[in-house]
This record gives sequence, C-alpha cells and structure tokens, in this order.
Amino acid sequence: GFFILCVVDCVPVSWSWLRIPGVLQRLGFTYFVLSLLQTFWGLKEIPLRAVSSSDVVLYWPQWLIIILLETLWLCITLLMPVPNCPTGYLGAGGIGDNGLYPNCTGGAAGYIDRWMFGDNMYRYPTCKEIYRTTQPFDPEGVLGTINSIAMGFLGMQVRWIIYFSSMIQQGISAAILSKCTRDEGFIPVNKNLWSLSYVMCTGCFSFLLLGGMYFVTDIKGWWGGQPFIYPGMNSIFVYVGHSLLGFYFPFSWEMRFQESHWEWLFQSLWATALWVLIAYLLYRKKFFLKI
Ligand SMILES: *[C@@H]1O[C@H](CO)[C@@H](O)[C@H](O)[C@H]1NC(C)=O
Repeated sequence: GFFILCVVDCVPVSWSWLRIPGVLQRLGFTYFVLSLLQTFWGLKEIPLRAVSSSDVVLYWPQWLIIILLETLWLCITLLMPVPNCPTGYLGAGGIGDNGLYPNCTGGAAGYIDRWMFGDNMYRYPTCKEIYRTTQPFDPEGVLGTINSIAMGFLGMQVRWIIYFSSMIQQGISAAILSKCTRDEGFIPVNKNLWSLSYVMCTGCFSFLLLGGMYFVTDIKGWWGGQPFIYPGMNSIFVYVGHSLLGFYFPFSWEMRFQESHWEWLFQSLWATALWVLIAYLLYRKKFFLKI
C-alpha cells in the first residue's frame, strides 16, 4: 500500500517541491475527524425503533460542531481580506472575470494554501488550461477540507435523517447558492474549492442515487450495478492507473478547442469509459487490487 501511495504522490522528485495535500490525504483527514466526532459524541447504542426525523436531535453535538465548522468556512471564504484581490472572490483568476484578477486563483482558499505551503504547492490545477492561470492552486487544499468533513458527515447521517427531505433540502440549497447558473451564483458549484454549493449539489445527487440504487439492487434485485460495479471492485487500481497514465493517449490528447468545456467533457467521458472497460476485463480475470 505504501508503495502505491508513493507512486501517486511522490511524482515530483525533489522534497522541496513535494505536494503536501492530495486526494488520499483529504479522505484520510476527513475520516479521522468524522471518527473523532463519532467516538466522542456518537451514540453507544442505536435505538431499535422506526427511523424518524427527530433522531437528528440525538446527534446535536455533532450537528453543532459541523454548523460551527461551516460558519468558519463561510466567514473565511467570504470575509477574509486577500491582498490585491476582492474579498470573497470565488473565481479561477487568470483570464476569468475578464482578466481583472489574474493572481487571485481560488480566493481565500488559494491564498491560505500558498501562505502555508509556499513552494510545496500543486502547480497543475484544472483551471490552468481554460483560464490560463499562473498561480499554483491545490484542489485538495486546507480550507476545502472543512466542507469535505461536512459532506462526509451528511453521509454518516444517511441512516437516521429522513432521506428524501434531506435530499430535497440539499438540492434547494445548492440551487439557491448557485442561482442555478454555472458561475454567477452567490457561491458557485466549484469542485476545486469544494464550495458549499458543491457539497449540497453532489450530496443531493448522491442521496438520490443511493436511495434509487438501494431500491433497485438491494430491495428489488433488478440490477447488479453493471458496469459501475467493475471499477468499484478495483477502485484503487483505476485511481492509480489514471494518475500514472491519464495524461497519455488514449486517455487524453492535445485538445483542439481548449476554451470549450465540451471537448473536456468528451475527453473525460471517453477516459472514464476506457477505465470501465479495463476494470471489466480485470473483473473477468478475477484480478482485484487492494491496499
Ligand atoms: C501577478 O503576478 C505576477 C508574478 O507572479 C506579476 O508579474 C504580475 O504583475 C501580477 N499581476 C497582478 C495584476 O497583480
């Protein structure tokens, strides 16, 4: 396992350029915080009665901590002054926003990471190509971790809170925060910032999918989850494989329409389909890589 993590994250050879945050670091830290919440404020015994919305009350200390964390995220993101940048900036910088704030990539989130990590910053964020940004920016930075924790916490509540009402609330929150636009809302849906609307939007769809899948596969047995079950059975293999080969043909190519989101979308769908196919072949050979 250590070897594999090293292959993914030790790619920059010099220590002084080593990236400190990352996807697996983010997941590990999020789970660490959630397990602390559960250890100190979880219930020792889960009540054996029908699930009701009032069960939320049983977890009030955890909810309180999450709400405080979320308030912290909102205050820092929207109110913290960043030198030479508009306060509360949530954009990509570069040529975005008519090129007014080229060095403001990621607003407060980017500023905090650049201040904390200096040279040890991720230099190839997805915004680099489309928005021609020059500043380093880490999509798994420090500030966004707060929202990962909130997102994981919502997942932990799945068993207890009323499923559909929670899903609808998240969906409505995401719609309001983003004003249902790509980048004109109060808080746009932004994966690189792990913004609050991103958490609400993806949380809503995850709840919807999970509920639908539970009904279709577990209760009714109509569908075994193909083809998604194949990459799911080899998720680390696919993740490592894509980290190593994702920049090469046939997974990606030099794009002709750099400015358009459509070619990016097509390339992403194509690469995903290829990995699903590879995972299927491995599944047939009963090859499963685990840490
Ligand atoms: C952005 O930063 C670069 C150096 O990284 C500097 O040359 C440039 O003047 C800055 N632009 C603005 C608008 O601050």
